[in-house]
Amino acid sequence: HTERTLILVKPDGVRRGLVGEVLRRVEAKGYTLLAVELRTADEALLAEHYAEHEGKPFFRPLVDFMASGPVLAVVAEGERVIEGFRVIAGATDPTTAAPGSIRGDLGRDWGLAVTQNLVHGSDSPESAEREIKLWFPGL
Ligand code: CMP
Repeated sequence: HTERTLILVKPDGVRRGLVGEVLRRVEAKGYTLLAVELRTADEALLAEHYAEHEGKPFFRPLVDFMASGPVLAVVAEGERVIEGFRVIAGATDPTTAAPGSIRGDLGRDWGLAVTQNLVHGSDSPESAEREIKLWFPGL
């Protein structure tokens, strides 16, 4: 069945000029873009977005990093797009992410407190609906 996912190009991806490259890969795979917006997220939104990581040592640095510059927020639609985008993105750790994936091709470890891994993708239908409501209340 057709489903929707929330994709973020994180501040490292925007700073490196990879917005077009990420959108190209999503579109080339055949997914449909429903919404695309460049914006700097505030802490309240990010704390809610990453609520499941509250209390972890990387939570604070993660929120600070995500607020450090604009992100590109995207809603994409397609058959199994949630799983499909996570495959396109590659594993969380960019050093070991498979070549051919966004993180594997374009990311690496910078030795910083937070894993700067270029993109985010919802990990389940429940997260996708929750995250889409957060980032695009009108959609
Ligand atoms: P994301 O898929 O957006 O979900 C949580 C984010 O936290 C993850 O990508 C990374 O950017 C970051 N992250 C996950 N695990 C760690 C970790 N062990 N140390 C630092 N940052 C992490």
